[in-house]
Order: sequence, then structure tokens, then C-alpha cells
Amino acid sequence: MDIKKLIGEMSLKEKVGQLMQLHGNFFLAQTAAELTGPASRLNISPDDAYYAGSVLGFNGAEEMMQIQDTVMKKQPHHIPVLFMYDVIHGYKTVYPIPLAIACSFDDALAEKCAAMAAKEAAVSGVNVTFSPMVDIARDARWGRVMEGAGEDVTLGCRMANAAVRGYQGDMGKYNIAACVKHFAAYGATEDGRDYNSVDMSERTMRQTYLRPYHAATDAKVRMLMTSFNTIAGLPCAGNKRLVTDVLRGEWGFDGVVISDYNAYREMIRHGAASDYADAAAKATNAGGDIEMMSATLYLSAEKLINDGRITEKQIDDAVYRVLKLKDELGLFDNPYRTADTSAEKEINLCRAHRDTARDAARKCAVLLKNNGVLPFSKNVGRVALIGPFADTGEIIGSWACHGSPNDTVTVAAGIRSLLPDAAVDVIPAVSWDIYADDITGIPNAVKAAKKADAVVLCLGEHQSMSGEGNSRATLTLSRAQTELARAITAANRNTAVVVFGGRPLELTSIEPFSGAIMMMWQPGTEGGSACADLLFGNAEPEGRLAMSFPWCVGQMPIYYSKLPTARPVPNSKIITENTYCSRYIDAPVAPLYPFGYGLGYTTFEYSAPTVSKTQLKSNDALTVSVTVTNTGNRPGTDTVQLYIRDKTGSLSRPVKELKDYKKVALSPNESKNVTFTVTENDLRYYTARDVYESEKGEFEIMTGPDSDNIQTVAFELI
Ligand code: GLC
Repeated sequence: MDIKKLIGEMSLKEKVGQLMQLHGNFFLAQTAAELTGPASRLNISPDDAYYAGSVLGFNGAEEMMQIQDTVMKKQPHHIPVLFMYDVIHGYKTVYPIPLAIACSFDDALAEKCAAMAAKEAAVSGVNVTFSPMVDIARDARWGRVMEGAGEDVTLGCRMANAAVRGYQGDMGKYNIAACVKHFAAYGATEDGRDYNSVDMSERTMRQTYLRPYHAATDAKVRMLMTSFNTIAGLPCAGNKRLVTDVLRGEWGFDGVVISDYNAYREMIRHGAASDYADAAAKATNAGGDIEMMSATLYLSAEKLINDGRITEKQIDDAVYRVLKLKDELGLFDNPYRTADTSAEKEINLCRAHRDTARDAARKCAVLLKNNGVLPFSKNVGRVALIGPFADTGEIIGSWACHGSPNDTVTVAAGIRSLLPDAAVDVIPAVSWDIYADDITGIPNAVKAAKKADAVVLCLGEHQSMSGEGNSRATLTLSRAQTELARAITAANRNTAVVVFGGRPLELTSIEPFSGAIMMMWQPGTEGGSACADLLFGNAEPEGRLAMSFPWCVGQMPIYYSKLPTARPVPNSKIITENTYCSRYIDAPVAPLYPFGYGLGYTTFEYSAPTVSKTQLKSNDALTVSVTVTNTGNRPGTDTVQLYIRDKTGSLSRPVKELKDYKKVALSPNESKNVTFTVTENDLRYYTARDVYESEKGEFEIMTGPDSDNIQTVAFELI
């Protein structure tokens, strides 16, 4: 397609139409009258709507083809529409939420899941997914931590890269374009709330928060979404320094930039734009292309050009990027692309995809505590399955796209399928409601627990409590759930607490009397099967925390890679008596469970790390070796983690930073030597000179099974 020629033939109205994105519902209206309502809310006419260049939100291949036919027929140059959707952790077959996928520390798994989602989405008419979300998140009060990869830069970059590779592949028929979001630093709002304020130094932005977006652009992500938040008072949709100077200028991103939903207009609410025209001008001059679900540019472009506030060349450049993506997806040749109603029926929820979802859910679960309770024997006669999440498909997760709780294997179904001869008593006992304090159902549950051989207690937060607009000021379980846990664990010591949720929760209240705690997150369509596999030993838990679990919400934001402070507490795990040090008087400084932590059903022993040289030159590399032994009597997989500390810099440096990780599978008594390569590049940061560089001096390498349980070896950069 000769895009420049096409643009030359288009009217201004057609061109700015390509930069307007509307919801699919606009085009499914049977009559113009039905369309008038939504259109009028955007101050456009029903006819204007048909100039839209892209659509978000629709249901399947048939609707996509219907909308495509309708809009193309109305468009003067019959330009195909680009179809976008939030395919966040699966399309119809839903795998665990992205925060759980990050806990697998398995890049290949993350890529495989994204590729599976892309295939189902492609046959269902999706061309672009608004994923991966890569916002570094260190505040579990934020409901959207479930969508990202947690607190760490290295893990976040690798998960971003894996997701883009999985979705986009070679941009073949079963691939879709990815859209990395939310640019930038949306996970760092000052109090964990959405649509809010971020304020940090540019140095911190570059050193931490921008890195995963950069990893996605390095992986050739085709689209990027700017975020709702302000940074130092400037809404990101209107942030020229971010979008034009950094993203396009420094990183060379030549893809499409789309705003978040209505974010152009919301610059007015932020008080950073006076009216639609001002918002459109600021967003366009910042470098924005597509305006999602508002029409400020569509309505004001002509006047803005006539007033010299934007240029038609800016519009042409933006339209070029949008049409280039449509061309790369083959939409000019085949506007339906891969949409196919029969393929949709055959591929979506197919057995192979369910198996992938089940394997992922097994690998993402994190065993937080186990005093010999797990795995349960499969020879149990009676299982008591208790709690509000014992038998519900609403463990599939937030943002589950077209995934349905009705297609989800519940914990009860998973256990009954695995143990067909066991009696399984299911007692919800209390509601999942966050404020639930009705404990009248507990006595009946206690009776069932007392006569069971094994008890599975399913607690946590409902999927509706995570995701956009669902920030919390507390992180505890409800009173009813806490009382239920206390009563059931007292009634039967052979009780495993299984926690569902989209964020790290405050489990401090139940930890002391729980013999085993397994974090299942929001595990997707096969969550119940995976849970049964893990509880009864058909699979070994190998997840490791991608976000710290707090001792209490007052520790927020909490993350392992903090600066040392001038007076670090002597022992971060206790409430220190020492005054005048960086402590709390009413809580430890350490989290309840640290980043990188997780147990298996076996035990592992780590040797001290060794280095191939104790002095590293800038053009050289050193090898770190550590031997890991399975000292238990079951096979197991551990995630060997490598951290580095810069002892002294022109700036204070974190006490440790994850630089690499490798999974190692070991049979009982087997040992393996795991090696890592460290180069000067791993030691770089934005120094006091605001240059991304390393500084000579002492460094420490730390290796171990998590960020807390580490052994150290020193080297020098010379
Ligand atoms: C929402 C979210 C964004 C999503 C978009 C389209 O407001 O912030 O992540 O992709 O709208 O649904």
C-alpha cells in the first residue's frame, strides 16, 4: 500500500478520523438513534463516528467483520479499521494474572502464554492487544499491581520482552501487535490510587521506572499507551519530554502512541488544559497519535491548524504511523485478517490451551509456608474444602477478557477430578466480601474439618477487588475469614490455607497458626486443576515472589532494592529497641515474605558463590559460579537469583539489585553448578553526572534462593 499517496488523497476530516478510537458499541447500534447517545457524549454526530480509524472492545470475529464492513463502506477511502482489545492474561483461555506469571521467573512460559493468547485473539478478530502492562509496582494498595510484573526492574524488563515476543512473534497470522503501557510510572502514584499524581526525580525515572518500557520498545513493540497520571504536575498524555524527546528521540520508537481512555479530555480535569482544543494541542504536540474514546482532536484539528497551534504535518505523520501498522498487519489486503468464526470455535479453550493454562498456574503458585502439611497424601478418604473461594469460577481473575467463570475449573472440581474416590465436603462458611463479619457459618465448617483427613481452606480477596479503580487502604483478610482460619486450623492441624488475590496481602494475622500457606493468585481457567495438582503432590510449587508481601500496609511502598539509609536497623525482621535508626516502633522494616521468596516440597542447599576473577576491567567479563544441591527426597526446581551491590558510588546505591536469575531442576541429592556472566554493563546506573555509566570500586555479588537468603563474594571494577 502506498501510504503516503493515500494520505495525500485524504481530507483533513478523514485523517483526524484515523486518530480517533471509539468503542465497538458505536457501530453495533441498529439505528442512528442508538448511536446518537454515545456520540453526543463525545460531542460528535453519528456520521462522524464512521470516520474512526480504530475500535476498542467488541465480541469476537463475527462482530469484528460486521463492524469492519459497516465502517469501511462509509469511509470515503474505505480504510480498514484497526481492532484493539485488553487481552491481558488470555483471550478465552485465561492463564494466571501477569503478576503471577512474573512469579514463575520463567521467560519462556511468559512468552508461551502470550503466544497462546495472541492466537485465540487473532482468530477472534483482535489486531492489537493493550498489553503488556509493565508499570513497576511497589505499593500493593494499587489494584493494578495484578497486571504487571511487580517491583523489580530486571524481572520487569524480561517479562516485558517475553510478552512482546509472545504476542508479536514474526507478526504472522496468529500474532497480534502489542501495546506496552502505561507510559510512564503509573505504578508509582503517591498513595496507590489510580488517575493520580506521580512525582520523582528524572534520575529515578530513568534508573527504575522507564526501563521496562524501554525493554518493550527494544523488543519492537508496535504501540505504546501513555498513562493517566501526572508526573511533576504534567499529564503523561501531554508530556513532550517523555513521548517525543525520550521515547521517540532517544529510544527511536517509531510505532503508534495511543492515549488511555478519555485521557485527552481528562487533562482538563487535571487542570492542565483549558478546553478540548487545548487538550488536543498539548497531546498532539507531545507526540500522541491515537486519542482513545474522546474526540478533542477530531473536533478541533482544523482550528488548531489554522491558528498555528499544531501543523497538518503532525497529523500526517501520526496518520502515517497508524496506516503503516494497518498495512503491516495486512488489513489493506484482507480487512478481516485472521478473524474466522470456525477457527474461533476450534481454537478457543482447546485442550492444548487449557493444558498450557494449567501448567502456568502450577508454576506461578508460591508456597509461603509449609510445616510438613503439604503435599497431602492422595490416599485421603475425606477432604474438607472450606472458604468463599472453595467452589467458584471467580478465581479466573480480573481483566479476564472473554474468559468466563463458567469455563473455569474450581478448586472443588479440580480436587474431585484428581481424587474421584474421596469424599469432598464443600463449605463456603463465610462470604468473600471485604467487610464480611458474619461468622455464623464457622461452626458447621469446624465440624467438617474435624472429620476430614485433609482440609483445604480457600481465602483471599475476590477478583472484583483487583484491577483498575480498585485500590485499597488496607490489605488484610476480612474479620470473618481471619476467624474462620483460626477456627479451622485449630480444628485440624492438617489444614492448608490457599490464598487467592491480585496483590500481596497482609497475611500476618493468620501466619502464626497456619501450618501451610499457598498463594495461588488469580490462576485463570484451570486454577482449580492446578491447585489440586499442587496440594496433592502431582506438581511441585516453584513460584517465587515478584512483589514483597508486607508485614503491614504501613510499610508501603515496600521493595527489596532500597537504599541503605544512614542508619540501617540492625535486624530488619524484628521491631528493634534501638532508637535513632531507620525503624518503625510498631513494625519490623522487613516484609513478611521478601521478593524472590518461595518454597518447594524439597529443600535446596547453596554453596557460596565464587568468581572467576576478583578484578573486572570495563571490556571484560567475570563468571559467577554457585552449586545448588537438592537435599530433600522429592524432585524440585529452584530459581537461582544473582544480586549485585555497588558498595560506594557518586550516589547512594541500593543494598542489592537483581541482575539475573536461572531456574534449575534437581532430583533428590542431585547437584548442579549454575553460572552467570557479569560485565561492566551490569554495573551501570545514572550517576551524579546524570550519565548512564559504571564507577570503579568495590562491588558485592550475592546469590541465593531469594533476596534475603543470600551468600556474598566481592570483586572490584578497575
Ligand atoms: C483503561 C485502562 C487501560 C486499558 C484501556 C482500554 O482505562 O487504563 O489499561 O487498556 O482503558 O480498555
